[in-house]
Amino acid sequence: MAIEDNRREYNFATMQRDSMRDDPIDQFRIWLDAALAADLPDPTAMCLATVDSSGHPSQRMVLLKEFGDDGFVFFTNLKSRKASEIIGNNSVSLHFSWLSLERQVVIRGDAELLSRENVDNYFRGRPRTSQIGAWASRQSEVITNRAVLENRYARIEQRFAKVAVPTPEFWGGYRVSLESIEFWQGGEQRLHDRFCYTPDVLNRTNPKWNIERLAP
Ligand SMILES: Cc1cc2nc3c(=O)[nH]c(=O)nc-3n(C[C@H](O)[C@H](O)[C@H](O)COP(=O)(O)O)c2cc1C
Repeated sequence: MAIEDNRREYNFATMQRDSMRDDPIDQFRIWLDAALAADLPDPTAMCLATVDSSGHPSQRMVLLKEFGDDGFVFFTNLKSRKASEIIGNNSVSLHFSWLSLERQVVIRGDAELLSRENVDNYFRGRPRTSQIGAWASRQSEVITNRAVLENRYARIEQRFAKVAVPTPEFWGGYRVSLESIEFWQGGEQRLHDRFCYTPDVLNRTNPKWNIERLAP
């Protein structure tokens, strides 16, 4: 089939303002639970977009590890390309694509480094192979071949053979605040439903969210 003919109708669900939760975190939880229940591959995967110092964007998938009123958390190498870009400009965007549910969620916010305590707590719970893998990879650097990685992995494995693997100082995580969050549900005749939540900045004592329907 020619790619220009590759399309489908979206008719899985519709979204009305009065069926949406007032709080976007509650709404996100409902959708994430649906993605988990639908047995999608990597339902917690999200695409993280950053920009470099000259304004060029780049993207990659990371896994959501925690979310709540304080934001959305992921873990990574602090010397990676994404981390360097966040140092220069911490405005980021996250994108969840749950395509078999005909849904996407797009978040904008600021990425803040997690405390070492937070990072250690998470790192301790990772499988040992992932812990060693984190030590072994100088993420985003050019390497000559796969053997470089495998040799490094073997050396690290030996180094920590008899002890718990400590958190590398170059490994950490970020929490992305919620500046806006948009929920998209595919609709018939390409009349998709979109609702965007933004904080009501005028209401500081009792934070609320403005919810606006956007044209598809
Ligand atoms: C499904 C999926 C999940 C991933 N999860 C993570 C993650 O949680 N943290 C991470 O650093 N990289 C993760 N990666 C790898 C990143 O996409 C990326 O290749 C890596 O972080 C280097 O990105 P950078 O060079 O832009 O910094 C994941 C990739 C995929 C496809």
